[in-house]
Amino acid sequence: MAGLLNDTLNSTPVLVILVLVIVWRLSAAFRRKSVLESLPVPSGAEFVWGHEKQVFMNEPGQAYRKWKSELGLTYRIKAAFGAPDILVLSDPVSIAYILQKKIYDYHHSRVVRPRVARLLGKGLGWVEGEAEHKRMRRLVRETLRLYPGLPYIERVATVPDSIPLGEPVKLSNGEVVSQIPVLPGQVVVIPCIAIHRMDSVWEDPDVFRPERWLKDLPASEKLCSGWANTLAFSDGPRNCVGYRLAIFQYKVILTYLLERFKFEDAGMDITLKIASSLQAWVKDRPELGGCLPVNVDLL
Ligand code: HEM
Repeated sequence: MAGLLNDTLNSTPVLVILVLVIVWRLSAAFRRKSVLESLPVPSGAEFVWGHEKQVFMNEPGQAYRKWKSELGLTYRIKAAFGAPDILVLSDPVSIAYILQKKIYDYHHSRVVRPRVARLLGKGLGWVEGEAEHKRMRRLVRETLRLYPGLPYIERVATVPDSIPLGEPVKLSNGEVVSQIPVLPGQVVVIPCIAIHRMDSVWEDPDVFRPERWLKDLPASEKLCSGWANTLAFSDGPRNCVGYRLAIFQYKVILTYLLERFKFEDAGMDITLKIASSLQAWVKDRPELGGCLPVNVDLL
């Protein structure tokens, strides 16, 4: 047995691999970690799936909400299949930086912007009297706060950059930073649904309460600057181009239905899933597909 071990160790390829592994481990141990590598990371990463299984196996946003309450607004998670770690940002300052500030230079231009505004008016399209639909307005806002069609927005860095943070973050070495340097290829996730339900921002965040939109909103530095201070239609120059149409259709369809039908809860246990967009599913009835059964009566 000892002879066999000696033979194995004497063979040159094994020795070379052994030395390489030791050098790699030592260099990893002594190399100064980057800011990203020193960001807080939640426990419970799996070898193959990293943290991504928790994101997709739980209700949309649940995992991000749990990690945010444990680690704060900025942290990283392990990606599946050993891919580089993913940066998760719920900080309004960073989100504004990514979605608004830098993507088109014309956005900042004092010359081009007024010209575009003069040509196009308020935007590509708008609905007159929108401000008058007060009841519908709060219904739509509360619905899209709780159920944003796109629960997560992802971006990939294409150039080296430094993302500013509104709330500084403590690294594993104790240093506190308010910028996260990123390299090309870095994946960034903005968990909109978890951000819309942060209990540090919204009172009873999981409760459907349209009246909350009648009162003063939470402090503006805690909110994003997209439509209705949410990320339901993203934010900045690349936000949803169809958002006015979407809101208008939503109001027309809802008004039409509510005038003619009475809807009642069918008492089914509903869960949320992401199937390209956020969808309602009946718990334990996957054969029904995405659906929201309700009892309907003619008025
Ligand atoms: C309630 C309905 C809708 C919701 C919640 C919604 C949400 C969104 C969101 C969050 C984005 C940004 C995606 C990203 O950057 O990763 C987006 C982009 C977009 N949406 Fe919508 N949308 C809706 C309806 C519509 C409608 C009705 C249209 C067209 C008539 C439309 C056309 C687009 C287009 C073209 C983009 C890409 C914009 C770009 O990248 O420049 N959407 N939408």
